[in-house]
Amino acid sequence: LGQKLHVYGEVDSTQTIAHNLVASGAPEGTLVLAETQTAGRGRMGRKWHSPAGKGIWMSLVLTPRIPVYFMPQLTLLCAVALCRSIQKVVQVDIGIKWPNDLLIGGKKVSGILLESSGEDERLKYVIAGIGISANLKLEDYPAELRSIATSLAIESGADIVREQLVQAFLLEFEEMYALYLDKGFAPIRLLWEALSVTLHRPIRTQTPTGIVEGIAESLDDSGALTVVISSGEKVKIYSGDIELK
Ligand code: BTN
Repeated sequence: LGQKLHVYGEVDSTQTIAHNLVASGAPEGTLVLAETQTAGRGRMGRKWHSPAGKGIWMSLVLTPRIPVYFMPQLTLLCAVALCRSIQKVVQVDIGIKWPNDLLIGGKKVSGILLESSGEDERLKYVIAGIGISANLKLEDYPAELRSIATSLAIESGADIVREQLVQAFLLEFEEMYALYLDKGFAPIRLLWEALSVTLHRPIRTQTPTGIVEGIAESLDDSGALTVVISSGEKVKIYSGDIELK
């Protein structure tokens, strides 16, 4: 992975570039990196703050021939690979908030957005978009993000060599991806659980049928979060965002 590298100065979104590259035949492993994005995308229609030269804004092309409904597993796999690679390169206490946000001390330092295209219930390709706030300083964040976001440099007190982290991520991802394609989700699920800052904690989330509050208990085989609510009943959360209480 990452053998075909496309590096840009300013783009709208590395996701858009990657989709276009796939349309013109780019193979699995193609990686798009940009110094800055003018329209960086986050999950659930949000914007992603991508100031120039301060972060790692990248999109990786994947073509796993797996059913579309396995997508959540792939996002959890990305989070595991990213978390492990950061742990290898930077001295920080980092963990995963379900499904795939990386937090340090409760603040978000990295996010993952998977966009896919499928046919006949199989995935045709997936663009794994990864944003890592590497060298942002507090003043690089808009006021509304300062209490909820942080960067690897702020938390570790050291400048991050972005190339080193990208390389560590690709190696880690390659290993996790091979494990997943060979052995399925079970080993990834165990690794995710070990890195999670969500499990065994009270959470709250909005679902299509109302607010669910309870203790996050486990991850199931599909990647859904099982929450135990006050009646003792178990509720599964398949998508969206949760709030840690
Ligand atoms: C999230 O936490 O909401 C996901 C954020 C994903 C951001 C990355 S930055 C590189 C890639 N290009 C985008 O436009 N978004 C992703």
